[in-house]
Amino acid sequence: SPRQLLKDKKVLITAGPTREMVDPVRYFTNFSSGKMGYALARAAKRMGADVTLVSGPTNLSVPEGVDVKYVVSTQEMFDAVMREYGSQDIVIKCAAVADYKPAVRYNSKMKKTNEAWQIEMEKTVDILESLGRKKEHQILVGFAAETDNLEEYAEGKLRRKNLDLVAANDVSKEGSGFGSETNELLLLHADGKKKVLPLVSKDRAAELLLEEVSELMGR
Ligand code: PMT
Repeated sequence: SPRQLLKDKKVLITAGPTREMVDPVRYFTNFSSGKMGYALARAAKRMGADVTLVSGPTNLSVPEGVDVKYVVSTQEMFDAVMREYGSQDIVIKCAAVADYKPAVRYNSKMKKTNEAWQIEMEKTVDILESLGRKKEHQILVGFAAETDNLEEYAEGKLRRKNLDLVAANDVSKEGSGFGSETNELLLLHADGKKKVLPLVSKDRAAELLLEEVSELMGR
C-alpha cells in the first residue's frame, strides 16, 4: 500500500459534472465521467486520509470507505462544499461545474412548436472562487480544463481563484481529459514551481497529484 502521506488529513474532493435543468426533462451538462475525481478519492483514502467526495451524477460506484454526498446542480454542489469546507485540510475541485444555467426553469415540459427555442443562460456561482476568498488554513487545489493556451489560462485561474496548486488539463489531447481512462496533467504552484506529469492512468495521475499536494502540507 502507498505511503501514508495523508494520514488523518481531512480531504474534500469534488467530481463529475453538474446538471442545469431547463424543464423537467431537459438539462445542460458536459462530458465529465467523474473518473478523475473518483480516482483522487480512492488514492487519498489509500494514503490514509479521511475523504469526503461531493459528486455530480456519474455511473461510478462508491469508493470504499469514502463519505459520498451526491448533488445534481451547481447550487447543490456549492451548498455541500460550503458545509464541509471549514473542517477540511485539503480541498481538490476536480468537478466540471456548469458555468451557465438557464435563466428560467420551467415547471412543465416545454411543448415543441414550429418556432426556434431561444434559451437565455445566466452565470452559475463559481464554487472554487468562493472557496479561494474564504480560504484560511486549507490547501486549495483546482483543475483547469482547457483546449487552448493551457498554461496561460490555468495560471490565470490559479491567481484569480487564490489556489495553492492547479492541475492544468489539456482536454483536446488524445487520451487526456473527459471520459478517458488516462490523463496528462501539468501542475502549476502558486510559488511558480511547475511539474509536468506524464500520460498515465487516472489512478496514477491521482497519486502523483496527491504526492505533490502532501509536500505542501505543513509549510
Ligand atoms: O471526469 P472525467 O471524465 O474523469 O474528466 C476529468 C476532467 C477533465 C473533468 C478533470 O480532469 C478536469 O479538468 N476538471 C475541471 C473541469 C472544469 O470545469 O474546469 P474549468 O477550467 O472550467 O474550471 C476551473 C476550476 O474551477 C475547476 O476546479 C472547477 O471545479 C472550478 N469551478 C468552475 C466553475 C464553477 N462555476 N465553479 C467551480 O468551482
